[in-house]
Amino acid sequence: MRDINQFTITEAVKKSFRSEEGSRFKFLLETLIDHLHDYTRETNLTHEEWMRVLMFLYDCGQISTPDRHEFILLSDVLGWSALVDMINTRGGATEGSNLGPFYLENAPKKALGADLAGPREGVSVLAYGIVRDTLGHPLPGAVVDTWQADGTGTYPIQESGQDKYDLRGIFETDKDGRYYYTTVLPKPYTVPYDGPVGDLLRAGDRHAWRPAHLHYMIRAKGMRAIVTELFFENTEYVDNDAVFGVRRSLLTRVEPYKADKAGNPPLERKPDAMLRFDFVLAPEG
Ligand SMILES: [Fe+2]
Repeated sequence: MRDINQFTITEAVKKSFRSEEGSRFKFLLETLIDHLHDYTRETNLTHEEWMRVLMFLYDCGQISTPDRHEFILLSDVLGWSALVDMINTRGGATEGSNLGPFYLENAPKKALGADLAGPREGVSVLAYGIVRDTLGHPLPGAVVDTWQADGTGTYPIQESGQDKYDLRGIFETDKDGRYYYTTVLPKPYTVPYDGPVGDLLRAGDRHAWRPAHLHYMIRAKGMRAIVTELFFENTEYVDNDAVFGVRRSLLTRVEPYKADKAGNPPLERKPDAMLRFDFVLAPEG
């Protein structure tokens, strides 16, 4: 170890961890050490730059709370979250996209046809479609868990005095795999930019806006769950989402509501517009 130098240190560090041979943990750790050391040699990282990175990470920790995950935001703006979503999407299944910071477990269960928006302002829209498997078979009893911002781009959980479970619902598909409910079209919003990640965006002359979107988590027995988002064609920021969540396959078209075209679903509230999206789940394993 005393003959260690900038080229032999990488192997020495890897060897110092006595992790189980052939384990996934060993593989992940050793690959991380390889890339971290390569990055440092390749950039000739100075002490000042190295300390700047560490202080940036320290600042991310300092501003984080149970309701604010600055490291997830960092991962999002670096495209890391999106990359993990991409490489974990199964062939034939709906593409995954960001979970985001506003998911809540145990949202209220709602009957098909329910309205999530209540008296909120904005364009009332029917969201509907079928949940299928990769062979095209409808999946009855699939769980469609959705959450979203309102017609001003705000999540109720962000505002004091609001019910944090507003604009959320868990639906179960009917015998034909259908889901349908009405809500209000969300508006774009910014990711939090008053912390270190905001400083990073400003340093790179980047904005903090996300295009309007609906969040979904779809589950069904024996199928691999998906977490994804739906976006709307021809709306602001779909081509420059601050967190790289948009995929062409997740863009939907909002059309004027026509009951016949939507299959005459029984609705609590008559909407102005409608959008259809069929989700596809791949088998588990
Ligand atoms: Fe969101």
